[in-house]
Amino acid sequence: MRRLHSMTRMFGSAAAALCGALAVTLADAGEQRPATGLVRWSADEKAVLASLSLKRLPPVPADPSNAVEAQPAAIAFGRSLFEDARFSRNGAVACASCHDPARQFQDGRPVSQGVGTGSRRAMPIVGAGHATWLFWDGRKDSLWAQALGPLEDAVEHGTNRVRVARQVAANHRGEYEALFGALPGLDGPPGDASPRGNAAEQEAWATIEPRRREEVSRVFANIGKAIAAYEKSLQPAPTRLDGYIDAVLLGDRAAGSLLRADEARGLRLFIGKGQCVSCHNGPLFSDQQFHNTGVPQRDATRPDRGRAAATAAVRGDEFNCLGPFSDARPEQCQELRFMVSDDPALEGAFKTPGLRGVAGRPPYMHAGQFATLEQVVRHYVAAPHAPVGHSELTHRHAGAAAPMHAERAPIELSEAEVADLVSFLGTLTAERPLAAVAPTTPGSQDGRASPPGEVHGPHRPGPGRRGHDDGLLSDRRFGGHGAQRPLPILLGRGCAAPPG
Ligand code: HEC
Ligand code: HEC
Repeated sequence: MRRLHSMTRMFGSAAAALCGALAVTLADAGEQRPATGLVRWSADEKAVLASLSLKRLPPVPADPSNAVEAQPAAIAFGRSLFEDARFSRNGAVACASCHDPARQFQDGRPVSQGVGTGSRRAMPIVGAGHATWLFWDGRKDSLWAQALGPLEDAVEHGTNRVRVARQVAANHRGEYEALFGALPGLDGPPGDASPRGNAAEQEAWATIEPRRREEVSRVFANIGKAIAAYEKSLQPAPTRLDGYIDAVLLGDRAAGSLLRADEARGLRLFIGKGQCVSCHNGPLFSDQQFHNTGVPQRDATRPDRGRAAATAAVRGDEFNCLGPFSDARPEQCQELRFMVSDDPALEGAFKTPGLRGVAGRPPYMHAGQFATLEQVVRHYVAAPHAPVGHSELTHRHAGAAAPMHAERAPIELSEAEVADLVSFLGTLTAERPLAAVAPTTPGSQDGRASPPGEVHGPHRPGPGRRGHDDGLLSDRRFGGHGAQRPLPILLGRGCAAPPG
């Protein structure tokens, strides 16, 4: 019931925003000529184009569970932590090893390589501040809680929270204490201890008295909060498509020179016949929801259940929004409290990845199953049965195992259309990589220059609570799980229908 209410509010604000865009479009419809000579966009299509523009990206929503996230000192400290390889068992792995600023904050590998080998692909971090759920399966509910995962993961950094707290005391004391106050004394506990570590580390953790454990975990959580502040400062840069959309909406004939004909045809397929925009929507090209699209398993002997196995993990996480280390009040944790966890469609479902910059970071899917964008698009046309759960994609000749989401038409594309869609995806890459925003902490140990990356703009803390009160068109608002809403549907609600 509550969900329904908030959904109505979401659609209300989204529809209002689209109506606004539509009004602008219609106002000058009289004198408008086809902008490109190649493609004439209908008013409906223009409204969808507007919804994809980077200009529509709302400010990063504020996370009430992280009190320091908007502080410049936290952003700078977070960046130095992000790049510090001493927070790893072998001294060689930093967040930036797998999230390389020079490679769109990912590593280009099918599955990641830390102190060991992982089972999923690294995700680009730019724009992650807009996500409600982090990781391919959404098993974390904030960026700061997310950051703590890899540190104690046996195959990523492979370290533990007592060691992390000691390293903060040894190498980052000034930066830490300026933000979070005095560090606790850390001489007492054994050197390597954690409730999540190996047997010896867990045993050592059990010997520490509860008050001391809490102190160590709080230092650990604070490290995550600083890292999250840095990550939230990373914003996507405008791409050729954004320039094209601006020009089309202004009725500017220069639009014709901004996209090639095949790219413009691909864009039309993306928002129309290809149905891509039903999941890849909003300025980041993601509904931030979980879908089973029948992607093959990387390792058939260890099937990946995706979202279905993650809801219990996030609910039980001591670092979640409702936990003791969160700065939020319980009523500010609506996403977690009203999380959908009993929907069978979560089986084998993964988070819709954003598509900005996608052409520059193969391979694709949650475990790098496809090497090229062409293979990705062909997958949507083939729509195979899912190895785990049921695919949302349908196939015209779907046999006995009837598709669960029968309302979705099969995605049928000719060879030429597959090529056009691939061409279009190339327009989502920013042409000029901008400098990263966060300054390196003055006096911090590494003096690395700003790395290049597709990022720009200062962190703009949002006015409202995460995902609720900001009243802006946010891509993650298009429905709960399984409720894909192609944008044109919104136009039917509350806007006058555009003239044919
Ligand atoms: C060994 C490589 C590796 C290291 C080191 C690593 N990551 Fe990741 N990162 C990954 C992989 C792989 C995923 C996806 C894992 C999954 O979904 O289970 C990921 C996912 C993420 C995400 C989720 C993005 C999204 O859109 O949901 C964020 C944020 C992130 N990492 C930040 C960090 C931070 C911060 C650190 C350092 C504390 C870090 N990572 C260290 C490989 C790594
Ligand atoms: C039902 C929702 C849905 C539809 C429709 C959809 N996608 Fe996706 N897309 C996803 C999900 C979910 C993933 C990740 C799947 C995984 O890794 O298992 C994905 C992954 C991708 C990727 C890989 C990105 C990356 O970083 O790995 C690309 C590219 C992509 N989709 C493009 C498209 C195109 C083009 C279309 C239209 C032909 C489309 N998608 C239609 C949900 C959808």
